[in-house]
Amino acid sequence: MQWGLRNRLSQIINPATGRTVMLAVDHGYFLGPTSGLEEPGRTIQPLLQYADAVMPTRGVLRNCFEPTIGTPVVLRVSGGQSILKELSQEAITTSMEEALRLNASAVAVSIYVGGEYEHQTLVNLARTVDEAERWGMPVLAVTAVGKEMARDARYLSLATRIAAELGAHFVKTYYCEGFERVSGTATVPVVIAGGKKVPEKDALELTYKAVQSGAAGVDMGRNIFQSEDPVAMIQAVRAVVQEGASAQKAYKLFQSLKRKRGRK
Ligand code: R5P
Repeated sequence: MQWGLRNRLSQIINPATGRTVMLAVDHGYFLGPTSGLEEPGRTIQPLLQYADAVMPTRGVLRNCFEPTIGTPVVLRVSGGQSILKELSQEAITTSMEEALRLNASAVAVSIYVGGEYEHQTLVNLARTVDEAERWGMPVLAVTAVGKEMARDARYLSLATRIAAELGAHFVKTYYCEGFERVSGTATVPVVIAGGKKVPEKDALELTYKAVQSGAAGVDMGRNIFQSEDPVAMIQAVRAVVQEGASAQKAYKLFQSLKRKRGRK
């Protein structure tokens, strides 16, 4: 791997721990004003200091953040659909030139394995890798899952490995029973999405089980920014991922930070 690419990747995945806490805030690219992200800058700003990287679209990055944020950016560059239509019909919507101009540390592209436009999304990924490697830019493949697809180890290891075979430098997928099969056959670091909002205790348990079974961390969105206390929640997630805390210990931390911050 070339020096610049490795340097960028090391800004996201801490070389000392091999892990990362990424904050996913790109949901609006097909969901519009997602609950919790109606005013993205306001929600996200206090969380940035606890994230190893943040994953927005260029719109939110340019409109809601100061260029001095200091947190590495994983820029979403695929999209072009909405929740109202076929989700897998994605194209590349942000150029590599723009990613470089915005000083991204990586770019993110979704793939829909098994989706109607599977081929198109896999070619989007492969072409982005070709272009990104010219500039030393790492590529995160996001294994998006259609409503009808099972989030099991068989399907997620298929999608994850295909992404790595096409050249993705790291992959985002979902946690599932038997996750060792997904992480163990990926050949590149794998991070997990949090999925739909669940109680904080369950989200921390999910995070713990994922890192115990080989995940390099999280790229978590709703379970942080829709939490009753997002600032406390991201610190609890961080304790599990970067400090090796158990889910129980992290939940206690969440409760005590929440109390200190005056939240009920
Ligand atoms: C999905 O396409 C986006 O990349 C989201 O940012 C991500 O998958 C969602 O994260 P979470 O499931 O933790 O809200």
